[in-house]
Amino acid sequence: MNRKEFFQQSFVGLTVLATGVGLSQCLGGCSSSTAPTDVDITLDLNASENSALKTVGGYLRTQGIIVACVGQGSYVAVQSACTHEGQALVWQQSDNRFYCSEHGATFARTGAVTKGPAKDALASYTTTLNGTMLRITS
Ligand code: FES
Repeated sequence: MNRKEFFQQSFVGLTVLATGVGLSQCLGGCSSSTAPTDVDITLDLNASENSALKTVGGYLRTQGIIVACVGQGSYVAVQSACTHEGQALVWQQSDNRFYCSEHGATFARTGAVTKGPAKDALASYTTTLNGTMLRITS
C-alpha cells in the first residue's frame, strides 16, 4: 500500500465511522418526545417543593409535565419535553411562552408551536385549582 492508497482507505474508514456515530446519535435523540398520558396529578401549593407555583411566572416540572403560574390563581400545564428533540422546556412569563433553549423553539400557553424547529404541538393538560390543591389531568 502506497501513501496515497493509505490516505484513501483511512478517509473511507473515517467516513463510515462518522456516519455510524451520527446515525446512532440520531436514533437515540432525533425523534419527537412522548407526552405523558392518563395524567392525574395533584399538587399541594403549600408544600415547599411546589412553592414556585405561588408566584406569577413561577413554574416547575413534574412527571414529564411543566406547570406554570400564568396569573393569580391561573395555571397552564403542558408536556415538559420539547417535541423537537426532547429538551426540557422553561416558562417565560414576560414573553408568555414556553421556550426550548436547545434550538430556540417556542410554544404558546396552549402548546401550539409559535417558532420552529419544532413542528408538533405540546400535549396540554387541564388544570383545576381547589383551594391550595392544583389538579392536573389529561
Ligand atoms: S430540542 Fe427543542 S428546539 Fe430542538
